[in-house]
Amino acid sequence: MRYFYPQEQQKLFTDRERELAELEYRREQLRQGRQEHTSLFGLRRIGKTLLLKELVRRTLLSEEARGGGEGTIIPVYMDFSHICSSPETFATGYVGWVCYWYLTRGQASPVSYLDIASLMGEVMLSGNREVADTVRRLAEALRAARPDRPNILRLAFEFPETLAQLAGCKFMLIFDEFQEIETLSNFQDSQNVIALFRATMQTQSQVLYILSGSAITAMTSLIADHHSPLFVHFSQMPITPFAPQDTAALAAKLLNDEPSEEVAQTIHRLSGGHPFYVTALSERLRRLVEIGGWTLDAEAVQRAFVIEALATTGRIYTFCRYVYDLSLQKARGYGSLKATLQVLATEEGLTSSQVARALRVTPGSARDYLQWLQDVDLVVERERAFFFQDPVMRYWVAHATRGVEVSLTATAEDLAELVAGLGRYF
Ligand SMILES: Nc1ncnc2c1ncn2[C@@H]1O[C@H](COP(=O)(O)OP(=O)(O)OP(=O)(O)O)[C@@H](O)[C@H]1O
Ligand SMILES: [Mg+2]
Repeated sequence: MRYFYPQEQQKLFTDRERELAELEYRREQLRQGRQEHTSLFGLRRIGKTLLLKELVRRTLLSEEARGGGEGTIIPVYMDFSHICSSPETFATGYVGWVCYWYLTRGQASPVSYLDIASLMGEVMLSGNREVADTVRRLAEALRAARPDRPNILRLAFEFPETLAQLAGCKFMLIFDEFQEIETLSNFQDSQNVIALFRATMQTQSQVLYILSGSAITAMTSLIADHHSPLFVHFSQMPITPFAPQDTAALAAKLLNDEPSEEVAQTIHRLSGGHPFYVTALSERLRRLVEIGGWTLDAEAVQRAFVIEALATTGRIYTFCRYVYDLSLQKARGYGSLKATLQVLATEEGLTSSQVARALRVTPGSARDYLQWLQDVDLVVERERAFFFQDPVMRYWVAHATRGVEVSLTATAEDLAELVAGLGRYF
């Protein structure tokens, strides 16, 4: 697992017991011949990938304890953002990752499984006939001057079931960043890739699918939209922020010290229990305490948060900048959207007509902007009023996009005013 889920990550893994129990229950259902496919969705960096890695780890352990053999369940993890650059790359990557997990159980480097020539080499070396036949057919199909894309995709989607039947095992297929599959529909002859996937999975009995994706709205529309052909086949599992006690448990590991209740509560309040923010904040805090000689108290948590969020090299700053740039690039009308976000950063819970007035645009335009911001998951609507999805992002927009910056070495005095202003946002 060292290529996939390093020991240090395993040690830091916290909570998610309920989600793991649910997913493990589905795995046991698969063993008994029932498939309940599942789709995880949640904000960026909320911990979807880590949860899936932990599921893979536990599955490998439990299957090993059962002694393998007939009916063993093999987890296969693949990240669609790495393989969706073209239908050909996708099919190769898809089959390659199944081969990788089947043949190595995640114990080797996957590099040689990801292009067709070296994959062929690995498969021949393994001496496994069933696998070799399919990979050879795929290689032939890929060699054609004008590849038959529906055929190539079908070969890939059918591969896990075919292999499972021949080898007497079952697969738990985990697709991270599933929404990336949409990229493939931009290519000629693979427009209906989702329909093809659905048609293939419906005929399979030895494979359980677990999908996960970051762009909540894109995932929900892929999975839950009534016009989308996938929705009846997947139950949905939202991945939400940590409860206060889990924030405290993760912070304790990262601070290498049991935080006082007040410190833990302040970390939870400012991070919203979002594990990435808890991590970045706690790591910054530890550095400031150990190197900077700060006292570990609630005030220090607030100062560390301001530094993390508003120093341009802080991890929270970098992350917010990335999400902000990426989300706005995807949406049209860049400038107006920035202005809309600034209005909501200053005052949340406005209706679309209030936003229209603040921006001096027509109510129709304001509604469009707000809709775009919802489509990229920056904004949510509750009872006709609009809010940021994420209070930390709101804080960042309110400050960083207006030029407020702090230094990593800022003193308590430098930070006093910003610390006093935190209450407006959290
Ligand atoms: N259960 C957890 N225990 C400890 N730390 C966590 C946990 N979940 C998330 N984290 C922290 O948050 C970071 C982001 O988690 P992860 O990469 O799993 O999120 P994600 O939802 O897959 O994000 P993305 O949408 O960017 O793919 C991790 O690197 C880790 O530091
Ligand atoms: Mg992820």
